[in-house]
Amino acid sequence: MNSRDSEHMIAELNRKEPYELTTTLAEADLIIINTCSVREKPVAKLFSEIGVFKKRRKDGAKIGVCGCTASHLGKDIIKRAPVVDFVLGARNVSKINDVVDTKHAVEISTDYDESSYDFAEYRSNSLKAMVNISIGCDKSCSFCIVPATRGDEISIPSTLIVGEIAKAVKGGAKEVMLLGQNVNNYGRRFGSDDEKCDFVELLRKISSIDGLERIRFTSPHPLHMDDKFLEEFASNPKICKQIHVPLQSGSTSLLKEMKRGYSKEWFLDRCRKIRELAPDASISTDIIVGFPGESDDDFEETIDVLERVRFEQLFSFKYSPRPHTPAAEYQNQVDPTVASERLSRLQARHTEILDEIMDAQLGTIHQVYFDELKPNGRIAGRSDDGKLVFVEGSEELLSQIVPVKISKASRGALDGIVVDHP
Ligand code: 5AD
Ligand code: SF4
Repeated sequence: MNSRDSEHMIAELNRKEPYELTTTLAEADLIIINTCSVREKPVAKLFSEIGVFKKRRKDGAKIGVCGCTASHLGKDIIKRAPVVDFVLGARNVSKINDVVDTKHAVEISTDYDESSYDFAEYRSNSLKAMVNISIGCDKSCSFCIVPATRGDEISIPSTLIVGEIAKAVKGGAKEVMLLGQNVNNYGRRFGSDDEKCDFVELLRKISSIDGLERIRFTSPHPLHMDDKFLEEFASNPKICKQIHVPLQSGSTSLLKEMKRGYSKEWFLDRCRKIRELAPDASISTDIIVGFPGESDDDFEETIDVLERVRFEQLFSFKYSPRPHTPAAEYQNQVDPTVASERLSRLQARHTEILDEIMDAQLGTIHQVYFDELKPNGRIAGRSDDGKLVFVEGSEELLSQIVPVKISKASRGALDGIVVDHP
């Protein structure tokens, strides 16, 4: 989400005057820090980074703080670090030109409606397009700061989405990544009352775009994984067979405390349905350990779900109390050492599972979309089910989808050989 917001800001800045990206700090006239605030660590890092930029920047270079930390700290950022020139919230990226030249401007309203805003075009990789389908989040998971920083959920009109993707396809993209906090809740609320389209209908509209070959999306919510959605996921050949199903916890009582709206049984049943309809799909997840009140038994329930579903990718976090969230006020916080031990155990077991999944790829053939040149004559791409694959090759493979036989497996990626290339 933040990567796409950064692209949006670059595009909007370019409407007014041409900017070029630089990786050399001393060359930059404008430094934008696009922040996350989902856990405490990145917030702490922000202020140390501002200090570094202050010291090493070119004379007169401006510093802007954007994203979720900008939304929740607002003008306090400038109070604490007066060197910051402007603050722009995660839901206000379209207003970058209003703040960039105004000393100490702060734009952080979370009720601002950007859903029908037509952003200018900028893509960091023309072969793969990221496209927002909704902004904000209507849930109130008790650990999560996002609804406070990104505001209520509004879906972007389907005509805008289809138009944006068609444009990206003309520019060379064969793959799109649809973005939203809860993508499969798409269509619940639009800026205008005339719009009507749910996520499955949107997927069908998008798949009819000529030249678009692959559709991915992140993140769906387990609660909204009804049969209609999973059947479309499984049967639509353009939809990549990779799905993120954020668990958070395997304990039904903890899920209730988290206000996630589903039980362990519902989650397992949805994963069973995915495997029944799309046996080759890879399933990834997010897990929080050490949520307030998590007992040893609760944690065992989480391990049990890991054993049953065997997630291919696991994003796991130690619970971090956040401002504006109910769970931060709970009295039964878990001892951080216990939480760390649980996190290590979860990650160690997942690593074993991942090694088994990757080893089983040896000798198999994947359709790989090559989208990135690497040093030493290598080129990288993704299989339909989201695995990172490297082969020896050069430009002529870029933007092609070709069969690759896997010759080497490691934890993070696969190596292979193109088997049938025209
Ligand atoms: N502490 C730890 N992890 C969190 N996440 C969200 N809020 C918190 C928090 N307070 C995790 C969830 C979510 C992912 C994006 O970040 O697992 O799915
Ligand atoms: Fe946060 Fe829950 Fe919304 Fe995801 S669904 S962004 S975890 S509140």
